[in-house]
Amino acid sequence: MLSHLLHREGVESVLLENRSRDYIESRIRAGLIEQWATDLLAETGVGERMRREAMFHNGIHFCFADALHYINFRDLVGKGITIYGQQEVVKDLVARRLADGGQILFEVDDVSVHDFEGAAPKIRFRHEGRAQDLACDFIGGCDGFHGICRPSIPEAALTLYDREYPFGWVGILADSPPPEQELIYAWHPRGFALYTMRSPSLARLYVQCAPDEDIENWPDARIWKELHARLGGTRALVEGPLMQKAVTAMRSFVVEPMQRGRLFLAGDAAHIVPPTGAKGMNLAIADVVLLSRAITAFYRSGRSDLLECYSATCLRRVWKAQRFSWWMTQMLHLHPTHNAFDRKRQLAELAYVVSSQAAATSLAENYVGLPLEM
Ligand code: PHB
Repeated sequence: MLSHLLHREGVESVLLENRSRDYIESRIRAGLIEQWATDLLAETGVGERMRREAMFHNGIHFCFADALHYINFRDLVGKGITIYGQQEVVKDLVARRLADGGQILFEVDDVSVHDFEGAAPKIRFRHEGRAQDLACDFIGGCDGFHGICRPSIPEAALTLYDREYPFGWVGILADSPPPEQELIYAWHPRGFALYTMRSPSLARLYVQCAPDEDIENWPDARIWKELHARLGGTRALVEGPLMQKAVTAMRSFVVEPMQRGRLFLAGDAAHIVPPTGAKGMNLAIADVVLLSRAITAFYRSGRSDLLECYSATCLRRVWKAQRFSWWMTQMLHLHPTHNAFDRKRQLAELAYVVSSQAAATSLAENYVGLPLEM
């Protein structure tokens, strides 16, 4: 997305991808796009397939105490969300970049970043067996939580904020109709469950499990049993063949600042959210919109103020999304140290959210996506 946005402003970039094209285009991630990001993809010419294939939702359901409660974002804040797999966005972006003559080098390895404290950074890497040096003006560290960019910044220059959660999610993709037309977030004494989808006939379903759970402990029958139980009889769930099954770990993480000299971190390289609320890709897109604006302003008018305050601008929004993702997570999950008091408190919080216009509006404005700059 960064490369695409820069191209539209006439700024050349080279994209170095560690994995194969097939890998990045098929790896299943969350599939929820905030309203402003949906609009941006469409406005910048990568929304054509999304417009045809995505599902556009106006709200979400909460399920607790054997009842379903709908929160209508459209009524509360005039916006909605889009259900479209993250890897579909990746496919559309890769296709667009290549059609626009963009340079994407797949399966590069031995990547290292150099001299970014000065005005002439370099990236060293190996591609198709050949060692290469790339001279550039800026490096966008969009290489994920396990990437090489963040660890290349001196440790003493960074502050890390971290929280791990004592649970994870088992996620499946099932050839079966989702139990509702829009998403269901379910609180249940047995643990959280989420009923989302990729199409009207393809359900994406998650159940809370132990952290670092061995997927072997979750045969298909156990997953379906939990999914049925945690819906509390509010909707029928039709079982179908599983097409994918994996465990998602949960963590909250932020690094400050998100930049060092001419190296700028974006997305998971700088921050991780637990998946409750699906903010990960949306935050990454917000980062690169701000970064592309800052880089463009530098070339257009020599301004470096936007580059200098890139981290501060991103972090204002990042922390609000962290707060929201943590809040959704703590409200909905069974926690090993929770007692009966905490379960009552969670139920009271859910009852408040679905019955108070003020509380529902707060949820809605965060869920559909906060403004880019705030
Ligand atoms: C998904 O569709 O995969 C999804 C949706 C909402 C979430 C997390 C994941 O909160």
